[in-house]
Amino acid sequence: MNSRIPQAFIDRVLERTDLVDLIDQRVKLKHSGRNYTACCPFHQERTPSFTVSREKQFYYCFGCSASGNAISFLMEYEHQSFIEALRQLASPLGMELPRAEEVVNDTTTPLYTAIAAACQFYRQQLRQHPQRQRAVDYLQQRGLSGDIARDFGLGYAPPGWDHLARQPWSEAQRQALIDCGLILPRKSGPGFYDAMRDRVIFPIRDLRGRSIGLGGRVLNDDKPKYLNSPESPIFHKGQELYGLYEARQHGKLARLLVVEGYMDVIALAQHGLHFAVATLGTATTPQHIERLLRQTSEILFCFDGDDAGRRAAWKAVQACLPALTDGQRVAFMFLEQGEDPDSLVRRIGAAGFAALMEQAQGLADFLFAHQSADLQLQRLEDKAQLAQRVRALIEPMPPSIYRQLFEQRLREVTGLEAATPPALEKKTATATVTPAPKRRAARAMTRARHGLCDKALRLLMLNPGLAARLHPPDLDECALEHWPLLRAVLDMLQRHPQMSTAGLLGAWHGSNEGEELAALAAHEFLLTPSMAEGEIEDIDLALRRTGLEHQLKRLTEAVQEQPSRERLEQQWRLRHEIEQLRRRRPTPPAD
Ligand code: UTP
Ligand code: MN
Repeated sequence: MNSRIPQAFIDRVLERTDLVDLIDQRVKLKHSGRNYTACCPFHQERTPSFTVSREKQFYYCFGCSASGNAISFLMEYEHQSFIEALRQLASPLGMELPRAEEVVNDTTTPLYTAIAAACQFYRQQLRQHPQRQRAVDYLQQRGLSGDIARDFGLGYAPPGWDHLARQPWSEAQRQALIDCGLILPRKSGPGFYDAMRDRVIFPIRDLRGRSIGLGGRVLNDDKPKYLNSPESPIFHKGQELYGLYEARQHGKLARLLVVEGYMDVIALAQHGLHFAVATLGTATTPQHIERLLRQTSEILFCFDGDDAGRRAAWKAVQACLPALTDGQRVAFMFLEQGEDPDSLVRRIGAAGFAALMEQAQGLADFLFAHQSADLQLQRLEDKAQLAQRVRALIEPMPPSIYRQLFEQRLREVTGLEAATPPALEKKTATATVTPAPKRRAARAMTRARHGLCDKALRLLMLNPGLAARLHPPDLDECALEHWPLLRAVLDMLQRHPQMSTAGLLGAWHGSNEGEELAALAAHEFLLTPSMAEGEIEDIDLALRRTGLEHQLKRLTEAVQEQPSRERLEQQWRLRHEIEQLRRRRPTPPAD
């Protein structure tokens, strides 16, 4: 995660912070056995699956697998950066962030600053520039009030080549503006020119309200209608949603409506519908869905009713399916030809629009309609075809009511009993027992009961001090499942023997490995603490044995290639050692 701050400092802050207090001040926790629980602040739910351990100083949600320590909690819950979260925890403890370390290598700050300065400049031009009236008239003619223009931070890039470029920027600021694509080097001769000229400016903000990019619209019918600032280290179009920050300013989001254009979002807000967001000229991606489902449990997509709209809706379905869990709803609204949410809400008003939203087509309805559009379902082959398509779609889904619903629906539509192969049936059967954790977490959980490395990792997450009792063997990367992660955790604990579970989670926070570790650590919530210390010894023996077997395998290959007395002797010694290790335990743990 963040190598700029010394690990020892982070560990000290975590050691002196109480996660239960920290969370309880924001989300009321209830005592439950050794742990604390609440309804998860990171997804919507009615029964609490968010669990906090005071002992281990970490949290885990069995619903959405959000997890981490005090730092990651603040990062997620208050949308802070790592440094900000650390500082917030450190300052009441009287601990100062090591200053010199703080800004080194921070390459993104100048970009945020540059975009912020540019947006401010454009807002100022909307109020002051001699030609501002053209832009003001344009916005008024599109029905926007001054308040809404302010809420969305709209601005105006005046006509002319270098209004922005000729501001008195420092060298570093100019470079940052270039990196954000807002000014460009002149093709002939020295100097720079503005990317946005004579356009209304729409700042695109991240969840913390920082501008990360912007869009600009012409005031007439010129082409291109919209110019967007290019991708940069702080701006990734496939992830961002225009209007999400602004929507969040209006409190908790019961639902989010995904539309296509900047002006759709703003027009809906102008009519009091403050829950629309737009993708930035890209198809809906799984990252969008993940972001949306962190804010709400209901997503409504609004597309054109034409072929292109349906294709776009299908992309959205594909992005949604792997992420959907219980308690979430996805639906689709298709508009008539020539209509977009902006024109529609202006024509029929907020109430009319809301009424249309109520009639949105549910995900299952759309999915089946789309997949059987080219089929004649009275024919057996076509039924089989549909079954095959739907099966392929639901296979990657996490076990959930949603998935069961699809399977049931498929049986109804096709009458094909064996719609799901037995292996799948089994998976869904367990779904009724476990409270449908996200797929990755579910997988990690199952594995946690099997693999040798996962067993070791789980014990280390329960008690990092046990690392001293493991003798890591010399193994290839792929000798054992999860060996590289175990190796890395052991290395870390060797360098920082005092590191806590929370510290470990922090070190891997935000990565896939971090999720695996959190899921393994979450076992503490499921198991009684009767984990015998002897188990670490079993695991150590099994690891050592695996190491020796690995050596033996390599040696045997060498012997086959070129036998020598030395090699044969060593082979014998290894076999003997392995045999001895086997005898130390009646049933060595299988891997
Ligand atoms: P639309 O052409 O539907 O725009 O493009 P709109 O929002 O209805 O625009 P108005 O109402 O004429 O002002 C939808 C989205 O596609 C992207 C923009 O993100 C836009 O909001 N787009 C469109 C571009 O990036 N460039 C373009 O030239 C056109
Ligand atoms: Mn439009």
